Amino acid sequence: MCGIVGYVGRKQAAPVLIDGLYRLEYRGYDSVGIAVMDGKQIEIVRKVGRVKEIEPARGTFGCIGIGHTRWATHGGVTEQNAHPHRHKNIVLVHNGIVENAFSLREECSAKGESFCSETDSEVIAHLIADAYRGDLLKAVFEACRRLVGSYALAVLCTDEPDTIVCARMKSPLIVGRAKEGLVVASDIPAVAEEGAQLYSLSDGEFCVLKGEELTFFDTTLGEIEKDAIDFDLSDDLPDRKGYHHYMRKEIDEIPKVLSLSQAKITENSCFSSFYRVLCQTEYIQIVACGTAYHSGLCAKEAIERICRIPVDVFVASEYRYCDPIIPKGTLLIAVSQSGETADTLAAVRLAKERGAYIAAVTNVTYSSLTRLARTVLYTRAGREIAVAATKSFNAQLITLYSVCCALAEIRGKTAPPVGGLAAMAESTIVTGEQVRSWTPHFVGASSAYFIGRGADRYAAMEGSLKLKEISYLPSEGYAAGELKHGTLALIEKGTPVVAVITRRDIAEKTMSAVHEAYARGASVFLVTCFEEFCRSPEIVSSVVIPECPPEYSPILSVIPLQMLAYYVSVACGHDPDKPRNLAKSVTVE
Ligand code: M6R
Repeated sequence: MCGIVGYVGRKQAAPVLIDGLYRLEYRGYDSVGIAVMDGKQIEIVRKVGRVKEIEPARGTFGCIGIGHTRWATHGGVTEQNAHPHRHKNIVLVHNGIVENAFSLREECSAKGESFCSETDSEVIAHLIADAYRGDLLKAVFEACRRLVGSYALAVLCTDEPDTIVCARMKSPLIVGRAKEGLVVASDIPAVAEEGAQLYSLSDGEFCVLKGEELTFFDTTLGEIEKDAIDFDLSDDLPDRKGYHHYMRKEIDEIPKVLSLSQAKITENSCFSSFYRVLCQTEYIQIVACGTAYHSGLCAKEAIERICRIPVDVFVASEYRYCDPIIPKGTLLIAVSQSGETADTLAAVRLAKERGAYIAAVTNVTYSSLTRLARTVLYTRAGREIAVAATKSFNAQLITLYSVCCALAEIRGKTAPPVGGLAAMAESTIVTGEQVRSWTPHFVGASSAYFIGRGADRYAAMEGSLKLKEISYLPSEGYAAGELKHGTLALIEKGTPVVAVITRRDIAEKTMSAVHEAYARGASVFLVTCFEEFCRSPEIVSSVVIPECPPEYSPILSVIPLQMLAYYVSVACGHDPDKPRNLAKSVTVE
């Protein structure tokens, strides 16, 4: 989490840093700061809150500087804990976690050094200052050798007024040449501009931005060359295009994303060699977190039902600790929008060590996950800015369903084609607008429940995650049949319950759960393909979605649930794009 940015060049640094931080705010937004050097001194401005809090610092004088937007890990949300951190002549910003921070702090304290913050990051400034003998790069290198954990660093030194030194280990870092200077940032949008040449650092690499020169170093400080990366400005420069929030815009992009993803998947140069891997595949593991975990569950349903290949889906943060059994020939698919989720990366590293074939389903071309995987299946969701994942979920599903189709073909099974889902998503968005009228039942409710059977329960789980994440309403997504085994005790008069029913053969079974909830006073809402259930007097309101192959139905049924979460969040007066306590990309374990 956290976003870092840096600039050295001909322009004033502060506006470049602040504009860059706005574009990184999705990575964390509880506090913010910049440090700008005017040739001699470094001025630091830090505030609790979002980037707009440091707008008054736009006029800070100096052509070199670094900035940071924070998602708190070590230490509370306070100005002292906000970055940049300073010790003696060293000022730095850090994204990542120093796992041995406690012992390093004790070591520094024993030498009589004192700390101004509770963060793990401040200790890095101490290590660099202690190692400094007139060469900032060497001092950063020495300090990094002491660190256990993850870091993306940008470091200033008052003794080297035209230099920023950067280092990367397990946290993303982009550096580059822009029109009027050199730049560094956690992600492309912060520094993307027409004509920029951008480079992605690998773990253990360093980069020096000095005057007009960019120099790269490997893990032993040997100088290296790097290839510039491709980026797409239209994708990389965030634009709300007239929408109040990115989340609503991103939901409307789902049909386009589905057609693009579906068209591109088999064109992917990796796909033919991956097809050969699929020919050998007898067992699949999927690891992911949050929404991506739910897309893994949906994929399991489709692959097992259609291809009869066993699939286990793991929450990535648990995978390492369950000593997973990884039989020879296991295909492990890691699903991650950002490709930077630390838990997912850790699970992948373990599976790789134990011999699994790693395939990645990710939305970010130069992410850490792409470096670990042997096959990368890019989802074509485009940049997703809202913290709540929407279009990326649908893109993951169509990609995983396409893998399912390939597996079915290999196995001589018949998989329903995925074509047509984009058009169905379009009409689902139109009818989905009806959920807006449901919001008064959710605003002020003490909890909400989402139920379904088969694949519908995974759509229910994802709908529930969306709602709790951006409206802060306690919510559960449940297998409909489980309701009566405990959760029913929580239903009282007016409790909103959303039932998802898209599979004809088990529809009546889910309706039984609806009857049970209604009998205890629940206000029941329905997302279904079958109009007849909407006429039931127990249903307050319903959305009818197109009927698609039931194995694929979450790709449509989730859409009204995403819209519901959005409208409830807005009705509650929250910012759906930036829910409290969360960040888009979770780069800490
Ligand atoms: O980037 P990833 O897909 O790996 O992220 C995983 C989760 O952090 C993410 O899906 C999270 O649950 C979303 N905010 C949910 O909307």
